[in-house]
Amino acid sequence: MEIRENYSLKKLNTFGIDASAEYYTEVFSVADLQELLSEKKFESIPNLILGGGSNILFTKNFAGLVIKNNLNGISLIKEDANYFYVKAQSGEVWHNFVMYCIANNYAGVENLSLIPGNVGASPMQNIGAYGVEIKDVFYELEALNIKKNTVETFNYSNCKFGYRESVFKSELKNKYIILSVSFKLYKTPIFNTSYGAIEKELEAMKVSDISIAAISKAVCNIRNSKLPNPTEIGNAGSFFKNPEIEKGQYILLKEKYPALVAYLLENKNYKLAAGWLIEQCGWKGKKVGDAGVHKNQALVLVNYGKAKGDEIYALSQQILDSVKEKFGIALEREVNII
Ligand code: FAD
Ligand code: EPU
Repeated sequence: MEIRENYSLKKLNTFGIDASAEYYTEVFSVADLQELLSEKKFESIPNLILGGGSNILFTKNFAGLVIKNNLNGISLIKEDANYFYVKAQSGEVWHNFVMYCIANNYAGVENLSLIPGNVGASPMQNIGAYGVEIKDVFYELEALNIKKNTVETFNYSNCKFGYRESVFKSELKNKYIILSVSFKLYKTPIFNTSYGAIEKELEAMKVSDISIAAISKAVCNIRNSKLPNPTEIGNAGSFFKNPEIEKGQYILLKEKYPALVAYLLENKNYKLAAGWLIEQCGWKGKKVGDAGVHKNQALVLVNYGKAKGDEIYALSQQILDSVKEKFGIALEREVNII
């Protein structure tokens, strides 16, 4: 394994932040990873496993070892009357995995088409879009216990999935490296078009026979029209989570701001569109140096070129403060801050 020193991470994070890693290497197998972590030199310094770098903001250089995950492979591990059980190695590109499922008629991940990044980070964030979250199709995962250097299996309940949350982002943060993820995919698709935008797009596409391929195409079209492409403008998708509030607070806010955008949740709380809150505070399209708020989607912070990670972070703090002041709501960052 080649170990590089003071390695630039600029091309390895979708914000395009010019941070460097004290040490950098790439792994292609679990054995590589285990060998690396057992080296004395790397035992006592921090390490960071990197997938597609699409949900990370480097606010400084990384004083430690950055490991780029290149563990690849997808296989059908078993099937029963209703499901295919498909295992993907964590270095697989998420969208390629989705395309593989669609080509093989494995249903359930089509609404998650075109989410950037790798399979390994998908349970970490419990990625979600257009009415589906990864927890809905999750079966189990294998992860390396960094301290013990042993492989462990996590089932659904061990992962403690929540909205853009899992145990790997909270209690077990930085303690495990996800090696592979297995999914439970439907043999007979259950089409999820609950998001109005999908229905509309299918109509515009003149789809008469709905299929998982058609839903995937519709989702790709919507995403391409809404979200900035990181190859053109640096970003990491939604920078903040959509906040959840109780009914009482919702009623008071709705009285004061009739245009408030909110969705009723199963637990009777309301989820607010953080993009709307941020736009109402006047941030949409604003630029502070090269850091900015996207002109079409206020929830997405962008790097117009040479912004530093700490500048984007400082902008996010200003946004947090103004949303708190105007609406009394504390936004939470969704992107992993390093
Ligand atoms: P990275 O950014 O490389 O890593 C993110 C974090 O996970 C880091 O802390 C990293 O150390 C950790 N990590 C990565 N791999 C592993 C592993 N194998 N084991 C343990 N920890 C690991 N997200 C959504 O949920 N829905 C969306 O609709 C969505 N849209 C997006 C649109 C755009 C344009 C962009 C840029 C991002 C979007 N995202 C979205 C966010 C992002 O795509 C997801 O969070 C994705 O899962 C990140 O994957 P990654 O491999 O790039 O993770
Ligand atoms: N809105 C505004 N102004 C804005 C942006 C949004 O008023 O500038 C309002 C609009 O009313 C709009 C509503 O907010 O209808 C919702 O916006 P959108 O459909 O773009 O979705 P979102 O809530 O901003 C969430 C996820 C996305 C995911 C989409 C689709 C979070 C934090 N974000 O965005 O995930 O793709 O829904 O399901 O939950 C990500 O996690 O990185 C991400 C992009």
